[in-house]
Amino acid sequence: MNISIFGSGYVGLIAAVGFAGKGHKVICIDNDESKVRQINRWESPIFEVNLESLLSSCVNGKGNLKASSDYNEILNSDITFICVGTPSNSDGSFDQSYIIDSATEIGRVLAKVSNYHVIVVKSTVVPGTTDEIIIPTLEKYSSKKVGRNFGVVVNPEFLQEGRSIHCFLNPDRIIIGEHDRRAGDILQEVYHDFPAPILRTNVRTAEMIKYASNAFLATKISFINEIGNICKKLGIDVYEVAKGIGYDPRIGNKFLDAGIGFGGSCLPKDLEALIFRAGELSYEAELLQSVSRVNIEQPLRLIEIARKNLGSLGNKVITILGLAFKPNTDDIRQAPALRIIAQLLAEGATVKVYDPKAIPNAKQIFSDTIEFCDSSPDAIAGSDCVIITTDWDEFKDENLYAGKLVIDGRRTLNPEKARHLCQYYEGVCW
Ligand code: UGA
Repeated sequence: MNISIFGSGYVGLIAAVGFAGKGHKVICIDNDESKVRQINRWESPIFEVNLESLLSSCVNGKGNLKASSDYNEILNSDITFICVGTPSNSDGSFDQSYIIDSATEIGRVLAKVSNYHVIVVKSTVVPGTTDEIIIPTLEKYSSKKVGRNFGVVVNPEFLQEGRSIHCFLNPDRIIIGEHDRRAGDILQEVYHDFPAPILRTNVRTAEMIKYASNAFLATKISFINEIGNICKKLGIDVYEVAKGIGYDPRIGNKFLDAGIGFGGSCLPKDLEALIFRAGELSYEAELLQSVSRVNIEQPLRLIEIARKNLGSLGNKVITILGLAFKPNTDDIRQAPALRIIAQLLAEGATVKVYDPKAIPNAKQIFSDTIEFCDSSPDAIAGSDCVIITTDWDEFKDENLYAGKLVIDGRRTLNPEKARHLCQYYEGVCW
């Protein structure tokens, strides 16, 4: 099939290489010329395991993937995926501008398309957006009718950064939220060789499945962090408790790693957007609000531990190991480390940081207010306290921390070994 993909961020680019790898002819459409040039040179604009080698095999090898900034390329495809970002506004609601711009541009091109074309909404959009905003915009700018001249499907993506390609090619499920059956059938055909159950729903249900999934994952994390905070006061190891409860298949053993909470471009943003949407409908989402509150407070517990040990943090040298919101990515969006660094700076501390991938991104935020180091030993040398904020593999060696005051936000170290080797070791909730 000929596929066009709007937006070359995580979701769009991974879908592009995934579909191209399966033999489809894919064109990535993006208004960012520098991204277009990078993709056509087989360079990935984002860091993701194996992405560049896959890009090179599709763009250069098979020749079935290219990028363009020309929206008219849609005319050469049968199906268009909308994969643009849906960031947050300051009130927590989701910023619809990229979605509206995409629907407008696609609508304008649809006006010239004679065949039935399928538009797939892969971006995360709050329930109601496709019916209330995307379809009316497409109809307005194409002067065509959904269900007759073109079809619309909501097909949320569930990939996790750091293992995106694996997640894309081996999904747990494929949700096809169809406006019209014909469009759903065409999308199901695109996924015919994916090893996953397919659930066909209406448009709004598919939109909600995505939000409910992320809200549930966020709830699991805040839940285990709250249990961890209580366990710590009782001298109980929350990781043993998580293991114990995880044997119950109704609970499951995944996503119960207690620590400084969830960051990233999805869980925090989607949780806030769902709370906001509920509020618009006059429903106070109390459970979800608590999930968010626990998550906001959790990283600051590390600073309390530092204060307890060092007194005032003014003029103390603090090392932060890890900037990315989780390992194997350079993504720092909503990373707990950023809030910790901001608080340390506010208290007058000198901050030294190291992260294997995320330093270039962090430099754009902190420029010269913190010291960026080339390695963990460099960052640790001469500091009063080491705070671990991302569990990169290279931070797991306890010997790095011999004689140091260490505060672990991710259970990166084995507490028993760390207590033996470090001058002092404490976890955020263990
Ligand atoms: C998340 C979801 O897991 C994906 O299913 C979803 O497709 C994606 O959002 C999205 O909506 O696009 P991602 O943001 O890549 O994926 O990150 P996660 O692996 O979910 O981790 C999120 C945060 O939770 C990280 O900061 C991680 O360190 C933290 N976390 C995760 C914990 O603190 N404890 C855990 O047990 C698991």
